[in-house]
Amino acid sequence: MYSASYLLIIGLILAVVVNAADLYKALEVSRHASEQDIRKAYKRLSRKYHPDKNKDPGAEEKFVEVAHAYEVLSDQEKRQIYDRHGEEGLKAHEGGQGFHSNPFDMFSSFFGGGFAAQQQTRRGHTVIMDFEVSLADMYKGASIDFMMKKNVLCDHCRGSGAASDGDIHSCSGCGGSGVKIFKQQIFPGMFAQSQQTCNDCGGRGTVIVKKCPHCGGEKVIDHTGHYTLEVEAGMPEGYEVIFEGEGDESPDWEAGDVILRVKSAKTEGGWRRKESSLYWRESISVAEALLGFQRNITHLDGHIVEIDRKAVTQPSFVQIVEGEGMPHFHESTHGDLFIEYNVVLPTEISPEVRRKLIETFYGPVQHDRDEL
Ligand SMILES: *[C@@H]1O[C@H](CO)[C@@H](O)[C@H](O)[C@H]1NC(C)=O
Ligand SMILES: [Zn+2]
Ligand SMILES: [Zn+2]
Repeated sequence: MYSASYLLIIGLILAVVVNAADLYKALEVSRHASEQDIRKAYKRLSRKYHPDKNKDPGAEEKFVEVAHAYEVLSDQEKRQIYDRHGEEGLKAHEGGQGFHSNPFDMFSSFFGGGFAAQQQTRRGHTVIMDFEVSLADMYKGASIDFMMKKNVLCDHCRGSGAASDGDIHSCSGCGGSGVKIFKQQIFPGMFAQSQQTCNDCGGRGTVIVKKCPHCGGEKVIDHTGHYTLEVEAGMPEGYEVIFEGEGDESPDWEAGDVILRVKSAKTEGGWRRKESSLYWRESISVAEALLGFQRNITHLDGHIVEIDRKAVTQPSFVQIVEGEGMPHFHESTHGDLFIEYNVVLPTEISPEVRRKLIETFYGPVQHDRDEL
């Protein structure tokens, strides 16, 4: 899958003198980024710029740059050297040799063999939530800011749970292996061995003698993240927007995704939506039903739809206004608007009006008959 571009690029790798650009910038992370942030950034950017997927000029170079940044920043020792002495310090450390691991091998080992088999590390749960927006926002498109609570790795201990690295000791119960071996006598003189997860360290092989004061040894802390949901005009109901890797963090897994299912609120001043169609109910009087009328309907974004009917309008008649429905998703066209008319009859009529209606519908009334 990679062999073609591999050959092409191997020459490039040797030629690229990785420039002194900031490695943190290359990964689009801050200098205080946690190991997990760095992993996440590499995961995202290496997929984005992989020459198999991205044919833009400059993508390959970016891919190599991202790989180099990850190689350094994911390694505690190299990262410290880089933080203190920059690229020059790293070169000195590596004995003057410039590059580096093959960025394609690195990509494959990170993703466990390429795009197809990516899930090697354990992943946290994917969280799926409904997110209600107004129908007007669905119609116009909108950027909606929201907050979400989640666990993040403690930035003090970087997820180890210990006050310092020196406070993580090898477990004495299992000698660091994480399992205890039990010998059991089944018959006199005959023993069976069984293995059990070490109960002193929970199978980790290490114990923490002094807990991190910041997270109390929990390894994670509460965090309220700020996000923006981009609602695109005409988004289908239930459309899933993925916030990659924004699930709860833990040192034991790679954070899962948060998926928001975007739905429009049902209560939008009489507007209803069905896919790309919009429905609106309009009340008219008997006179308007019979004689015709003009009406201005204010649409979801405030523009006016002018209605001018000359004909008789039956109760429950549905008028179709083409092109005034929801925008088609990712297209410049619109669905249709369906206006249903509700004819409102007066609750009572005066004797005067009654007489006139009788005259209108049945012809002139005889005076003497009327007085009977
Ligand atoms: C509808 O709005 C237009 C301006 O957009 C205005 O000229 C017209 O008089 C209005 N018609 C009614 C029936 O209100
Ligand atoms: Zn901590
Ligand atoms: Zn143990």
